[in-house]
Amino acid sequence: MQSESSEPKPARNIVLIGFMGSGKSTVGRELSKLLGYPIVDTDHEIEEREKLSIPEIFSTKGEEYFRSTETKLVQELCDKGLSHHIIATGGGMPMREPTRPLLRQLGYVVWLQADVDTILNRTSRNSNRPLLQTENPRQTIENLLEIRNPVYEQVSHLRIRTSDLDIEETAHGILESARYFFAQS
Ligand code: S3P
Repeated sequence: MQSESSEPKPARNIVLIGFMGSGKSTVGRELSKLLGYPIVDTDHEIEEREKLSIPEIFSTKGEEYFRSTETKLVQELCDKGLSHHIIATGGGMPMREPTRPLLRQLGYVVWLQADVDTILNRTSRNSNRPLLQTENPRQTIENLLEIRNPVYEQVSHLRIRTSDLDIEETAHGILESARYFFAQS
């Protein structure tokens, strides 16, 4: 999605969106190292505030509750004028409509896109993703991607396919594009 002139100018942050296992936290840490910007990992932030793990939040308070905490957190980051940060978001963050303009206000939004095999491989290593604890995780991933990809597309300023790139290549690509973007805006 192109930046529209009616939109407020995005803050000087890099916001990573994309499906579970697409590399947001890993690439976020690399960008943080390269740029010297602190990283905000929204899942970690929510876990700290709630004093519960993501699976515990889902099982005791429900997914809807988790989604509202995500929306509140993004709103809060916008309100406090966060700048010069890397923000790694949870994979479902853009699925709530009100978060979409907020994410684009918060910074340069980069969609990290990985293929189903890569996602499956990365996410099957542990059981900390409640949405993927199903009989057939591959099918679940495919179903969710079908719904989510158009939204990631709509919300992002840039898409990077990460499956064939290493972390450094991905981070350098983002860095170059972000420099160009902020120089223009
Ligand atoms: C979710 C993604 C997870 C976490 C929660 C829900 C999702 O974050 O927020 O399990 O709906 O895609 P990661 O994308 O960092 O795994």
